[in-house]
Amino acid sequence: MPIAVCCDNVAMPKHWKTKLIHSDVRVPEGYRSLTTPTYRGSTVLFPDAAAVTDAWDQYEAGYTYGLYGSPTTLELAERICELEEGHRTIITPGGQCAISMINLALLKSGDHTLVPESIYGPNRKFANDVLRRFGAQVTYYQPTIGGDIARLIQPNTRLIWCESPGSITMEIQDIPAIAEAAHKAGALVVMDNTWSAGVYFDAFAHGVDVTMQALTKYVGGHSDLLLGSITVKDASLYRALGAVQQLLGCAASPDDCSLALRGMKTLAVRLEAIGSSALAVARWLADRPEVELVLHPALETCPGHELWQRDFSGATGVFAFVMQKDVPKDRVMKFVNSLKLFKIGYSWGGVTSLAVAYNFSYYKNRPSYQHRIVRLNIGLEAMDDLLADLQQAFQASAG
Ligand SMILES: Cc1ncc(COP(=O)(O)O)c(C=O)c1O
Repeated sequence: MPIAVCCDNVAMPKHWKTKLIHSDVRVPEGYRSLTTPTYRGSTVLFPDAAAVTDAWDQYEAGYTYGLYGSPTTLELAERICELEEGHRTIITPGGQCAISMINLALLKSGDHTLVPESIYGPNRKFANDVLRRFGAQVTYYQPTIGGDIARLIQPNTRLIWCESPGSITMEIQDIPAIAEAAHKAGALVVMDNTWSAGVYFDAFAHGVDVTMQALTKYVGGHSDLLLGSITVKDASLYRALGAVQQLLGCAASPDDCSLALRGMKTLAVRLEAIGSSALAVARWLADRPEVELVLHPALETCPGHELWQRDFSGATGVFAFVMQKDVPKDRVMKFVNSLKLFKIGYSWGGVTSLAVAYNFSYYKNRPSYQHRIVRLNIGLEAMDDLLADLQQAFQASAG
């Protein structure tokens, strides 16, 4: 193939400053690689003056503006959608952004939403601080309520949020029963499906209308990006969400999308390794004298374990355990501080094991685990080394 590198068909002479902006170089065509190119850009070029439009739906209008997605962003969106088997996916700059966009797109003043007590903390804070300020009503429900949620549905209930397992306390929800009650009353079911990475729980087959994930966690997989996804089951929900993304201006970075596309390629092997280590660590903890309860969905001690067996096809690497009732707070803190391989920090789903101690003493309507609950994120370290680390931390915190 000829390599035409410079100055073909130069129509008009140019100052070097103009050449910096309007170059005539051409590079060979036909490069084929295994990687999706990273298309960055705010401006998108139109073929002529009449073609200019600010339409956000790039599937209908073609590319119009970087905010609505470049080919890199849309490839990630389509690939998440393919895995979740939804209608369309929108990529957002983080999981929390996906949560707020869903609320702002699907609720209005006077509407009512039901939110599980076990929802991710900032999701709850958004409901309390923003939704209520804008005149929406919020009621919290016990995550294990199942079909009894029908009792809490009001004529103005528009959205029922679910997250399964719940954040930190890990309750598995009866999503089909909740969806049946919701749909009978004309309400939508939205699920935070981050824990299952969108693959171990088939949300749309279980009656969910809208899912979101923090791609920051397992899809990214290396603790080096923030992204979210919203997947919808039909075109009218896509229109509602797409229009709000445009107006909120929530653009995801194509560079982060490129990293997420790379992360997707190893998602299966990472989840398999992380999931089997996490289960082994959970079983080991269940036998420790210092531990009262292990909250891992694959163990019978986890609330809703039988629903996990019925509805999920696997378990990932985040779970919690509760120390015995006589373990004081400073000993829990000393245990976490004594860990060497497990690091202390938020945002799970990466390759590094993490530990965070939580204090539930001040939460009404949450299980009475007080200061005794520790959440672990299992990474890709050798499992025996993780067990040795936990063992030495129990010993160090005993004295
Ligand atoms: C269950 C769950 N949903 C949503 C989020 C928010 O994701 P992000 O950190 O990408 O905003 C998190 C983050 O910790 C999470 O744990």
